[in-house]
Amino acid sequence: MTTIVTGAAGFIGYHVCRALLAQGDMVTGIDNMSDYCDVRLKQARLAQLAPHDGFRFQHVDIAGKAAMFALFDREQRVTQVVHLAAQAGVYHSLFDPYAYVTSNAMGHVTVLEAARRLSRLEHLAYANSASVYGGNTKLPFAESDAVDTPVSLYAERSSGTSPISMTW
Ligand SMILES: NC(=O)c1ccc[n+]([C@@H]2O[C@H](COP(=O)([O-])OP(=O)(O)OC[C@H]3O[C@@H](n4cnc5c(N)ncnc54)[C@H](O)[C@@H]3O)[C@@H](O)[C@H]2O)c1
Repeated sequence: MTTIVTGAAGFIGYHVCRALLAQGDMVTGIDNMSDYCDVRLKQARLAQLAPHDGFRFQHVDIAGKAAMFALFDREQRVTQVVHLAAQAGVYHSLFDPYAYVTSNAMGHVTVLEAARRLSRLEHLAYANSASVYGGNTKLPFAESDAVDTPVSLYAERSSGTSPISMTW
């Protein structure tokens, strides 16, 4: 199988790439190498993935529609997309809201639209955040719970969250 993994240089994306490569899959990893976390750590992760014959890295921003569409058009062998690229950090979203709108809202939509161009796609999985439950008082949280009381822009613009109004 051939899989596109977004956020391949990140914490979870790197481990997903390793697991897929270990089972013999081909992986195209995408990341914009954002400096929100230490870029040297991301480079070190990519250096560990690079020796695998099945791994290719693309330095691309998921919010860039033209580059993403061109990349996905070239990747017609892909049957799976694992979308893990995101601007992380709940607190930081109070100080740099644009990064969240760009990567987590525009980026997420662009991944979905780019994936529609893959003729052999069978599965697309993405990570969300428990932060979306926000002011929910019911415990434990359940995936069927409403997510209409976010308390941060990160939660409101986490991948896959509906565009809903937010209370601070
Ligand atoms: N780590 C956790 O405990 C945890 C918990 C819940 C949900 N999640 C979710 O899982 C996903 C991955 O989390 P993580 O811990 O691996 O985060 P991470 O920050 O380690 O990795 C995210 C990667 O995405 C890349 N990225 C950010 N914006 C991008 C863009 N516009 N284009 C391309 N690449 C971009 C970053 O450079 C980074 O390498 C996120 O959606 C996060 O919200 C993580």
